[in-house]
Amino acid sequence: MHNEQKVTDHIYWIGGNDFILPRFEGLIHISRGVSYNSYFIDDEKTAVLDAVDNSIRDVFMDDLKFLLKGRKLDYIIVNHMEPDHSGSLLALAEAWPEAKIVTSAQAQKMVSNYFHVDLKDRFITSDEKLVIDLGMHKLHFVKAPMVHWPEVTFTYEETEKVLFSADAFGTFGVLNGSIFADDVDYKEEYLPDLRKYYANIVSRYGAQVLMALKKAAKLDIRYICSLHGPVHRTEEDRNMIISTYAKWAAWTPEENSVAIFFASAYGNTSLAAQILAGKLAARGVKHLKLVDLCSESITEAFPEVLRKSHIVLAGITMNMTLNPVMNAFLDLFEEMGVSNRTISIIGNSSWAPNVSGKIMKEKVEKLKKCRILGEPVHIVSALSDDGKLDELADLISSDVKAGQA
Ligand code: FEO
Repeated sequence: MHNEQKVTDHIYWIGGNDFILPRFEGLIHISRGVSYNSYFIDDEKTAVLDAVDNSIRDVFMDDLKFLLKGRKLDYIIVNHMEPDHSGSLLALAEAWPEAKIVTSAQAQKMVSNYFHVDLKDRFITSDEKLVIDLGMHKLHFVKAPMVHWPEVTFTYEETEKVLFSADAFGTFGVLNGSIFADDVDYKEEYLPDLRKYYANIVSRYGAQVLMALKKAAKLDIRYICSLHGPVHRTEEDRNMIISTYAKWAAWTPEENSVAIFFASAYGNTSLAAQILAGKLAARGVKHLKLVDLCSESITEAFPEVLRKSHIVLAGITMNMTLNPVMNAFLDLFEEMGVSNRTISIIGNSSWAPNVSGKIMKEKVEKLKKCRILGEPVHIVSALSDDGKLDELADLISSDVKAGQA
């Protein structure tokens, strides 16, 4: 069986969907599956660009055999070595033993580390001066280190002006028949998953993303072919995806609004978070988001940090320290380099001092270009009518409005 689709008359998508993976990288909960995209160039010489996850290896190999029609495969281009793409690389290399493997020096070491085979004689190093001439198509290589692994390389095909961008611009969510972004309502269908992918996988490397975007800006690009999700082929789609990436890479919020993240034991902190949200809404703040960290995974919650300008953290003291879920959530802030956010804090403790408020404040103070708005509010067991939430709502709503001006 074969499942290939045309990107252009000579370039094919030969990927597939994984509908059943529950957690990407073993960690990130996904509910709409993911596609693994590989591409084939049909020319005087033939090339496949990246392999696929082992879960769809059979259909990928069948597609390739079908498209080769008995010809040999000349080149295997490896832009990214994470196993969701390289899982089937060894099977591919063994099935077509004459194919040269074009990849970065770092990736060559990774091939050896993952597969414990010696493929040295087959490697061509994809430095930025290399051009692979397939006939009509000519491949150039653009280093994109740490987007999001060190070996990552983009391949640019100059004749049809195709950027093969590794994971960059990729999204969770299966492909629904068409492989093109302009055949679907991309913002409705994929934007939340694109945000989730970027937030959890790429956001730590904003500086490197900006460097890669700068290099890509020098290229005349008509097609953006990522390793996950739809191909972008219209000017509108290309501009949308590139400008979205540029915004996220600079930690520029998408919305002047507030996300309130809470971790509550018996509902008192949750109630305080809900009351604060109501007070903000009454003061004219729109697009508010309430997130229960105890019922949602932190990888599900984290994309809202990328989205909103203002964050409220409402956490409780447990065992004389900060609730472990809020603690892990704030560790993720530090790990991913959350920047340029305005953060307010609410701590709740019943019989211990306000340790949770103190720890949250210390963790936020370590973040770059983030500021704490207002004094941390201390709730003792249950919210009282002391007016502190009104004061906080006044401060946050004024600040949000000032940002909108
Ligand atoms: Fe899709 Fe970084 O692998």
